[in-house]
Amino acid sequence: MLIASLGSAIAAALAVPAGIYLLWNGVSKNRGTFVEVADLTQLNVGKPQEVTFERTRVDGWRVLKEKVIAWVVRTDDKNVVAYSPQCTHLGCAYHWEEDRNHFVCPCHESLFTIDGKVVGGPASRPLDRYAVRVENSKLLIGSKILKA
Ligand code: FES
Repeated sequence: MLIASLGSAIAAALAVPAGIYLLWNGVSKNRGTFVEVADLTQLNVGKPQEVTFERTRVDGWRVLKEKVIAWVVRTDDKNVVAYSPQCTHLGCAYHWEEDRNHFVCPCHESLFTIDGKVVGGPASRPLDRYAVRVENSKLLIGSKILKA
């Protein structure tokens, strides 16, 4: 009886911190983090702009600062789209070409419209997007990538 009680006490002592750890990580990963990257007044409607910002990422017990790039397009007074900077073909960095009025990937010539749709090259799906929020005229970009 004493041994069974002692075993139960040890199991409870281990289970409670483990449960808190699992719940805390599950909640914090699902919430995602948003980083303020620009003031809306800095973005012109219909003009793609590359923005670079820093994000803190937790990897196990390590806290890492990483540089993140996004292509942002202000679509009207209140809305902005932010694209992940990797081409959806094989992950090369693409860029906006004003003369061609498209996002162009130099690796294999995939072409994307300003709203991320594929119009040329081997890419088979639209550009991936970051979750975004606009609060008090500030653009915030989330850590989650929304695949099309
Ligand atoms: S990686 Fe962009 S076209 Fe191949």
